[in-house]
Formats: sequence, C-alpha cells, structure tokens
Amino acid sequence: MKPRQWIRWTMEQGMPRAMLRRRARRGDPFARLMVGSEGRENPYPVVEELRQAGRLVPTSINWVTVDYELSRSILRDNRFGAFITPDINTPGKAEMPDSLRRLLRSAILPANPVDPPSLLMLDPPDHTRVRKSVSAAFTPRAIGKLRDRVESVTTELLDALPANGTVDLIEAFAAQLPMALIAEMLGVGVDSENRERFLSWGDRVTPLLDFGVPLRTYRLAAATLAQVDAFLDNLITELRANPGDNILSSLVTANELDPDELKSTASLLFGAGFETTVNLIGNGVTQLLAHPDQLELLHAEPALWPQAVEEVLRFDSPVQSTARMALCEMEIAGVTLRPGNVVVMILAGANRDPKIFENPNAFDITRANVKEHLSFSSGPHVCLGASLARMEGAYALRTLFERFPDLRLAGTPERRLQFNLHGYAHLPVHLGRQVPAAA
Ligand code: HEM
Repeated sequence: MKPRQWIRWTMEQGMPRAMLRRRARRGDPFARLMVGSEGRENPYPVVEELRQAGRLVPTSINWVTVDYELSRSILRDNRFGAFITPDINTPGKAEMPDSLRRLLRSAILPANPVDPPSLLMLDPPDHTRVRKSVSAAFTPRAIGKLRDRVESVTTELLDALPANGTVDLIEAFAAQLPMALIAEMLGVGVDSENRERFLSWGDRVTPLLDFGVPLRTYRLAAATLAQVDAFLDNLITELRANPGDNILSSLVTANELDPDELKSTASLLFGAGFETTVNLIGNGVTQLLAHPDQLELLHAEPALWPQAVEEVLRFDSPVQSTARMALCEMEIAGVTLRPGNVVVMILAGANRDPKIFENPNAFDITRANVKEHLSFSSGPHVCLGASLARMEGAYALRTLFERFPDLRLAGTPERRLQFNLHGYAHLPVHLGRQVPAAA
C-alpha cells in the first residue's frame, strides 16, 4: 500500500476504529453496531437502545439517528452533502490544511464505489449531471427489457439445483442471479472464472462501506480495486471499439462522462448491482422460513409477492445505513450542527420506527404502508436500481418457493462480516422435492 494511502487509512479508518472499539467496550450502542458482532448478527436491539437515547444522538465521531422523519428530511435536505471521510473533496466543508487535503485527495482509491467521482460521493451540480446521464440508461424500457433475462436466468439456476439436495443457497442462487444480470447490463461475460473473480472482488471491496475498517482489510481492498480499475479500463476500451446492447455501452458511446466518472460509475453499478440484491434474496428466504404463516399466505395469494419483498426490505434491510455531511451551520432536532459534522442515518432503524410502522418488529407482508420504508434511501441519491432489485427479488423468491415448496434450513445461516451490507455469507438449505418449471 502506498504511504499516502496508509495516512488516509489512519485518518479515515484507523483513528475512528480505535475510538469505536474503546467506546464499544464501554457499551456505546453506535460503536457496538459499527465494530461489534451485534451490528452484523442482530442489530435491532441495539437500534432500539439508540431510539431510547433520542432523535439525534452524539457519538465520538459524529451524530446518529434511527428516527424515520428525521432521516428522511436529512436525506432530502440540500444543506447536507455527500459524506466523505475525511473531507477530501470540497474546500470549506471541513477545517483541514490544504496540504493535507491535497495529500488525501491523491490517496483516492481508483474505481472505489465510495470515493469521488462515484455518484454516491458527489454533490450537485456534478451529481445532477452524472446521475442524469446514468438514469438515461435506467429507463423503464431498459429495465423492462431485462425482465425476460431475470426469468430465464432464474429458471436456469433453479433447474441446476439438485432435487432433495443440500446447498448453500447464497452461493448456488442468491449471488448468481444479480451477478449475471448486472454483468450483462455492463457488457461483461460471466463464465465460471469471471464469476469467482467478481464474487471475490465484491467480498474484498464491500467492507469499505463500513466505519473503522482494519488495516489488513483496507490493504486488500486497495489491491483489489487496482485490479478492478485495470479490468474496467480494458472493458471500456473494448466497448468503445465494439459497443453492444447494454447500459455501459450506452454510457461509453454517449460520451458525456469523463474517463474517471465512467469508470467510477461502472464500478458502482457493478457492486451495487449484485452486493445488495444478494442480501435481499438471502434475507427474504430466511424471514419467510422463520414465518411460515406468511409463506402460506403467499402460496395462497401469489399477487402478494411484491409486497412481501417490500416487507423484507423494511424488516431486514440489505443496506443498513448511510451518512450525510452538514454543509452549513444549522439547527436540527434541537442540536446545532456545524459544517463538516456528519450524521449517520440507520435506515434499518428508521424502518422500525413505531411512529410510522405499527408493531414494527412484526414481519407482516400485508402491512398497508410497507412501501414507505427507506431501504432505497430518499432524495437525490435514492437508489437508481430500485425497480430492478424489486423485480429480481420478487421473481427470485416466488419462483424458488414455488419450485422447491419443501425448502428448509439445513444448518445455521452465517452472516456476512460487515455492518452496512446486511445479509448472509452462507445459507445452508435442504431443497426437498423439485417442481418442474411451468411451461
Ligand atoms: C436490494 C437491493 C438494493 C438496495 C437495498 C439498494 C440500496 C441503495 C441505497 C440505500 C442507496 C442510496 C445511498 C445513499 O443515499 O447514500 C443506493 C444508491 C444507489 N444504488 Fe442501490 N440498492 C439496491 C440495488 C441496486 C441495484 C440492483 C443497482 C444497479 C443495478 C443499484 C444502483 C445504485 C446506484 C447507482 C446508486 C447511487 C445513486 C446516487 O448516488 O445518486 N442499486 N442504493
């Protein structure tokens, strides 16, 4: 790792990590969520501790909220900007000597979905410009065209599962479907070598979405991102010469993004495309197995599947949190925030706010206002892939349970070793009998 990347890790991750670990030992709920096992195993009791502590709760490094209305209003408030730690992009956002700012800027990891110029880390006007160009590729027509592919890839994957066998459902199904789809959208072939490579890239890079990443993990992520960067350079060069009928080719030929923006967008789409939907499918399977009455309801009334997907998104959110930085001094929830102050919004906590969701700790696919969850965020950064994720999730879960009606757990599901991307690394299941695909 380059020395300046080490300096960046120290400021961005190492120092907060040391603080968070100390606070976690003293019982601080936010710190326990970020660096303790509770955050990945079962964050919800800790989230309730935060709710009891107030609407906007101070922590050693920032502010945190699990309040629905407050989270939603911050996400839609232009007095807040993208969160960058430490503030490396915009002078004036945080007080930092220019020399340090320059040094940190030079330590940006190329193709990192959580470094600028990734959409997630841009503010207007750049965010508006880049998002407009990417949204053009996410039109309802473009997404509608993918429906057939979602259906045929799902069928292929389920046909390949052994009737009455035992499999890791994440590896055999939940990770494969979104990976195949997003790869196709980006014009990448998914043979078995690429599949292994992309999955391992995902495993190594996604910890960067957490706070307080250990040095070893950061170093591995940095080395992996260098490989992703080289891969995307080649892919973009190929698509420029031979554009295909896919979203990345449209972005390349439209020529509206500069080379770094293009690569960063491709990298974000790639990661966001499969590292989130895999959690939706895995969390959906475990919740439905844990609530057989709800599964019964779905067997009796399949039109409820889209609604069931919304309840999975609310109840066990695949992306647990996001953050924003105050751009100016302001009063909010009785607190004075200064420029550079960061607020972490635990979306999964907002999704269980009893002021909005009645009996929030019940998994109920018939709740009337389920679509109000914040799992796809809100405001200018609201998830661009939400309709694709909904379509994939509903089709994958419905078809899985229709084709394997006796599916049950074959062991204890194992959570991913991360806080923010909340899902399973392994999900052992007995498949039971297999019903042939409907003609
Ligand atoms: C269950 C699946 C998914 C979940 C829970 C999810 C969640 C999110 C969330 C919470 C954000 C906003 C973060 C913020 O406000 O800071 C976001 C942004 C984004 N998502 Fe998703 N996502 C999912 C699937 C997808 C898919 C399938 C794609 C692409 C194919 C995608 C592409 C994006 C992009 C490009 C952004 C950045 C938007 C911006 O910053 O303007 N997501 N997603």
